[in-house]
Amino acid sequence: MKRFLNYCAIPVATVFGIYLGFPTFTANAGDIKKIYKDTCELCHGTDGKGSEAGKQFGVPDFTNPDYQNSRTDEQMKESMTNGTKNPNYVKLSDLGVDAADLEPLVKLVREFGGK
Ligand code: HEC
Repeated sequence: MKRFLNYCAIPVATVFGIYLGFPTFTANAGDIKKIYKDTCELCHGTDGKGSEAGKQFGVPDFTNPDYQNSRTDEQMKESMTNGTKNPNYVKLSDLGVDAADLEPLVKLVREFGGK
């Protein structure tokens, strides 16, 4: 049953995101969730802890407060725009994500940390 619920949680959240909009986000709330689901989840996982593949690439656990506290928004944006020392890291432009979505994506990443 738990599995079934986990499986359903994503589409439901996406649908609500599109129709209701999440108050913490600006205009394209649904789109951001969709971008995360389509583009980031592969490595960062549905829950932000990192997928199996992502862990091998060395993704940080977004739910870990120590990690969240160790990075400023500016540092995250810098990594997402220009890449990092980690050769497995893919910057936003290479993922086909618009730079305009940078800000809301950082917010989303922060939400995994409970903020
Ligand atoms: C191919 C796998 C992959 C995909 C897809 C991916 N990431 Fe990452 N991400 C990584 C890895 C690996 C790191 C760790 C980089 C490092 O430690 O230098 C990372 C780190 C990050 C960080 C932390 C940067 C920092 O400075 O601490 C953020 C924020 C992030 N990703 C956001 C995203 C978002 C948003 C998306 C979708 C648009 C995304 N990632 C898609 C692999 C991926």
